[in-house]
Amino acid sequence: MLEPDQLPESIEDVTAGLRAAGYLPGTSTAIVAFLATKLGKPVLVEGPAGVGKTELAKALARYLGRTLVRLQCYEGLDEAKALYEWNYRKQLLRIQAESGEAGWQDVQADIFGEEFLLARPLMTAIASPEPVVLLIDEIDKTDQEFEAMLLELLSDFQISIPELGRIEARTHPVVLLTSNNTRELTEALKRRCLYLWLDYPELEHELEIVRLHSPDLDETVARKLVEIVQQVRELDLKKPPSIAESIDWARALILLGATEINGDTFRETMSVIVKHRTDLDIVAARVGVKLERPAGEAA
Ligand SMILES: Nc1ncnc2c1ncn2[C@@H]1O[C@H](COP(=O)(O)OP(=O)(O)OP(=O)(O)O)[C@@H](O)[C@H]1O
Ligand SMILES: [Mg+2]
Repeated sequence: MLEPDQLPESIEDVTAGLRAAGYLPGTSTAIVAFLATKLGKPVLVEGPAGVGKTELAKALARYLGRTLVRLQCYEGLDEAKALYEWNYRKQLLRIQAESGEAGWQDVQADIFGEEFLLARPLMTAIASPEPVVLLIDEIDKTDQEFEAMLLELLSDFQISIPELGRIEARTHPVVLLTSNNTRELTEALKRRCLYLWLDYPELEHELEIVRLHSPDLDETVARKLVEIVQQVRELDLKKPPSIAESIDWARALILLGATEINGDTFRETMSVIVKHRTDLDIVAARVGVKLERPAGEAA
């Protein structure tokens, strides 16, 4: 693990560091993470649900020894919740305390000071005296105006507050934005970011991830599990299982004491990895049936 003011020396450093922090990065993940820390550019991480976008930011914070500041985006998110807000209650108390003695000019100068600001995640991140990792999670849930506001912040690392003036970043955060691709992000945003596409992992990589999260699962069961999940992903489903589902399934199998995955175990536990009524039918028919038959027997 590094100190907050240290940066990784090489891609190998990043790979080893993320592993030590409990995250197994693919090659492009390690490269992009390394470049992000060195170039000081934000990273836009896109990909399907449950492939480790959010976890990458958390692991990076652990590895870099920095605090993680997280902004969870949602529809209707505005500056007041993302940047800063005036603490009205405190302002009001001050006005009441001063009433009578001071004129409006004095009170006004007083109540728009930094002590009356409530810092929200974006401001917290750039005003922090120690550099942080800033995770702007699910940016695709916000609207384009919010994106535009963000651009300004990400390119200048400063916030303008009309009543107070400019607040400049004391330190530069490592910034990760994640998106599930529910809407196309603007070119302007993409231009300012490094891009990382996270997809479902290759078999061996996924096996390693599952084993990392569930070291107690029998080796052969773990391999079978990952093979089945990869087969299920090939089917045309509404919601293919992600790494998150593989991990959950491994945990479920351990709890149930499963020593193999046969037709019965599969039927009993498939709802851990498949979560739509119609998908369940497809998977039962295409994968479940195969498991019912002993290996080698023809259809
Ligand atoms: N490379 C990896 N190494 C270790 N664990 C991983 C890796 N990739 C994913 N995981 C695990 O998979 C699970 C899902 O990851 P995460 O929540 O980050 O997905 P996500 O891409 O943010 O999904 P969503 O789009 O639904 O928010 C987590 O438990 C995470 O620890
Ligand atoms: Mg996420």
